[in-house]
Amino acid sequence: MLDNSTNKTNLKLRDVETASKMMRRYYRTVKETMRDMAGYLPKMCWWPGKKLLARHIWMDALHADMLRSRTLDLRYPRVDVEDNDDVHLLSILEKLPTAPTDEQFLISVYEVIKPEIVKSLTKYLQNSDPLDDAPTHLYFRRIMDEIGMQLEEYQSIMKDFHDATNPEAVKWNRLVGGALNSCGGIDGPDRQIDPLAASFVERPAYELPLEGGRDTSWEKAVVQVSPRAARNFTEEQIRVAIDHANEVWASETPAALIWEYKNMPWELYFWAARWCYDEMRHATMGVERLTVMGLEVGVDYPMVPDHWRAFRERGVKYLLLLLHRLEQGGPIGKAKWKKKFIEMNDLAAAQDCDYDWADESGHISYGVAWLKAVFPEWSKEQTIDEGNKIASEWGEWIGNHHKNGTHGYEIFLDRMDRKMEALSNSSGK
Ligand SMILES: [Fe+2]
Ligand SMILES: [Fe+2]
Repeated sequence: MLDNSTNKTNLKLRDVETASKMMRRYYRTVKETMRDMAGYLPKMCWWPGKKLLARHIWMDALHADMLRSRTLDLRYPRVDVEDNDDVHLLSILEKLPTAPTDEQFLISVYEVIKPEIVKSLTKYLQNSDPLDDAPTHLYFRRIMDEIGMQLEEYQSIMKDFHDATNPEAVKWNRLVGGALNSCGGIDGPDRQIDPLAASFVERPAYELPLEGGRDTSWEKAVVQVSPRAARNFTEEQIRVAIDHANEVWASETPAALIWEYKNMPWELYFWAARWCYDEMRHATMGVERLTVMGLEVGVDYPMVPDHWRAFRERGVKYLLLLLHRLEQGGPIGKAKWKKKFIEMNDLAAAQDCDYDWADESGHISYGVAWLKAVFPEWSKEQTIDEGNKIASEWGEWIGNHHKNGTHGYEIFLDRMDRKMEALSNSSGK
């Protein structure tokens, strides 16, 4: 092995074998932290934190993809790139979602793991020849720059949420940092965890929640769909935007798949990460449209995990089945709404539908690939039948809540009516 420490001529020497092993550990760190964030996303109640995770899961999947590809460039055997060689590091990373609170989970990812990744990549570059190892330099510059952006986004939302002197948060930070250090850190080589750090690894395994978490400051409802049909175009605008805002469950579903299914082909995680972010973008589009109309999430309209409430106990793969089935109608529905919003001169809503429609076409192919992976025993016909069955059960579930008056929507109908009245008075209509 070439060793930089003995080099007297200031050459940057690191052989390919060493570089590829380090690259693989970076890949596994970024990939497994991304899977932790995906696993925690459904549990996260704090709305700014939930949005942050979805965006960064996608960015981290892009980074992991670059690191994976560079590992393979460096003659690393394809068959081994996903093997669990760095067992001690992996045993620590898989316990991050066991954080007791949203705040503590965010701290472990953004104040321990990500800063350590930046430090390791910086150090790697200091001892890497910029010509021989040029692709690594380009990839790392992008990754380091984008993690820097992520840390700024984290700090800007945490300044009002996080009390840096909170003793529990400080203790958690030390526990995670100590465990990471003990296994050889991000750079490795991997080593046995010391007894002090062992308590972290012995924590019980993280389990996905039975319902997606929603901001604790919000009013609750049972279903997201209003029991009252729209009476005019403004109410139609609101209805479409509420539907958009409630796509959070569709972000939580691919995120849950990323966590639930270990050792899947990398492409499935890569696609699911983008899918997760897209659906959070769609939800945010709805929230932003409603904000412009003066309606506040969780106060004037509900954001509820109703699809999970209805089917989660069957397993995450049935939520995937429902999501895929509902998405098949997405492109036609979004094209129809785009046309209508243009006719009614609501160009912002038309543009939301236009971009959403573009995303949805990708989701359909991701859904097909994931369904084949999680229901390998189903034929194409059976998948279609099962999809139709669960979609009709979903319609019945909502219909029953509307019929029986158990939708929990009354408070929102009253508030929306008052807001709309104020809006129409102020516009002199
Ligand atoms: Fe969507
Ligand atoms: Fe979608």
